[in-house]
Formats: sequence, structure tokens, C-alpha cells
Amino acid sequence: MAALTLFHISDLHFGREDAVALDWVRSAIAAERPDAVLITGDLTMRARHHEFRAACDWITALGVPVTVEVGNHDLPYFNLLERFVAPYRRYHAIERLIERELDFPGFAVVPLKTTTRAQPRWPWVEGWVRPPALAQTLAAIDALPAGTRVFVTAHHPLLERAPDGRRLTIGGEAAMAALAGRKVAAVLTGHVHDPFDLIRETPQGPLRMIGAGTLSTRLRSTPASYNRIEIGAAGVAVSARNREHQPTAVIQVGEVPTGPLPGEVSAAPLRPLVQPSGLGGS
Ligand SMILES: [Fe+2]
Ligand SMILES: [Fe+2]
Repeated sequence: MAALTLFHISDLHFGREDAVALDWVRSAIAAERPDAVLITGDLTMRARHHEFRAACDWITALGVPVTVEVGNHDLPYFNLLERFVAPYRRYHAIERLIERELDFPGFAVVPLKTTTRAQPRWPWVEGWVRPPALAQTLAAIDALPAGTRVFVTAHHPLLERAPDGRRLTIGGEAAMAALAGRKVAAVLTGHVHDPFDLIRETPQGPLRMIGAGTLSTRLRSTPASYNRIEIGAAGVAVSARNREHQPTAVIQVGEVPTGPLPGEVSAAPLRPLVQPSGLGGS
């Protein structure tokens, strides 16, 4: 396969976006013309219409191939009917970019849905790899020509348990093992607002996990950043670019962060006033 350059950006959070950082990324995309931009979710802060309009305007102006994952901040919180009947309606302007596969000679980007409309727990912040979603991703991988290198994109890191035992992404361990068994080159995610590049051992072999930082003002422990990824004969090289010019090795974190963002009691959205019956939650 020919060498490819990808930009992996995440957690733009329009409504709390870092406008200077977004201009900086947009300029880099215009100057370097990456083969694709992979956006791993949380386009907005509260899934409000004006936030979506701003996010869609920014994305559609990029002028390069884009794939977009849906984050937990991107489903309507306040209009539960819309959340359940037409959760992606507000994506109208970029509908064709949502959870779409990107194919290049010898390389593909395959989406994995981890954001759900409801979960058997509250809050609905963390991920859930539902069996049909994993099956769809594995089927898409299996349909690729033999020898294709694959990146899987999702919003939530697939880590299933925090060190304190708290459940993070439901079904994450099984998904990681299945993807490792398919020899996926890396799983690219967002959600935790710090960049990382880690190897996770699974029962079916090692799996590389690449996380992008945020382009919002909701910082955890690192400045606003995004990943520039080079894929070539020598392998996959990740640079966590930031305007502070901190070296990648300095700003990448050594573990997947598992708690709420600093200064926030919880990363949870505001709680809806009414929950549909039978969906659990407290
Ligand atoms: Fe986020
Ligand atoms: Fe998120």
C-alpha cells in the first residue's frame, strides 16, 4: 500500500470549542491535505441545534474525506422523543459522513458504534458495544480483501473496567479480543480528552489503542491536540500535535483515563426531566 497520512481529531464539543485550536487544525488540513480526517465523536456539548450547525459547517468545509463517529454528547438529551425516534436527525448536513467506512488501496477505516440511545445504567456517558454493532464491524472487516490493514474508529475507548472496578465500555473486552483476532492495526477513539498510544493484551493477541485529545476547552491533563498518523511500510507512526509544541511522548498519557474530567463532578449530561419507562436508571 502507498503511504497514507490521516488526521485523527476528536471531542470538538462545539458550545465549548477551542476556536483557536480549531482554526489551527483547519489550517493544517488545508496545508497538508491528509488522505482523510477521522473524527471520533463528541462534536457538540449538548447536542443543541446551533452547536450541530457550527460543527457541520466546520466539517463540511474541510474538503478532504471525513468519517465521523457519534459521541455521547451528540444525542439529544432534552428531546427524548427525538433521541429515540430519530437520534441522528440533527446530523442532517453531514449524514453521509456518519459511521462510514473509508477504503484505500490496502487500507480501510471501519467504524464501530459505542454510543447508544439508552443503557441499562445511568448516566449514559460511557460506551456500550452491543453485539449487533460488533458483528457489523467484524463483517465489514471480513469483507475486505485479504491483507488489508484496518483501523477501527469508535468514540469510547474499549477498556471495560476502571482500576476501581467501575464498568466503562460494556462489551469492551470482548470487542478488543475480537478485533485483535482480526489483526486490526489499531482502534482509534476519543471521549477521554487526553491522547494515548498503548498496546492492550487480549486473549486473542495484542491490540493497539490510539486515543486523540480534545479540541475543546474541556481539558483533562493535556493541552488541546490531535493526532497526525502516518501509515507506511515501516508501520504506523502517531504524532500528538499541540500548539504548545510539546513532544508527543510528553503529552500522551500512559493509561486510558477513567474518571470524570477535572473540575467536573461527572462527565454526565444534564439529566432529562423524564425518562422513558423501562429503561432503567436511577
Ligand atoms: Fe468528550
Ligand atoms: Fe464522550
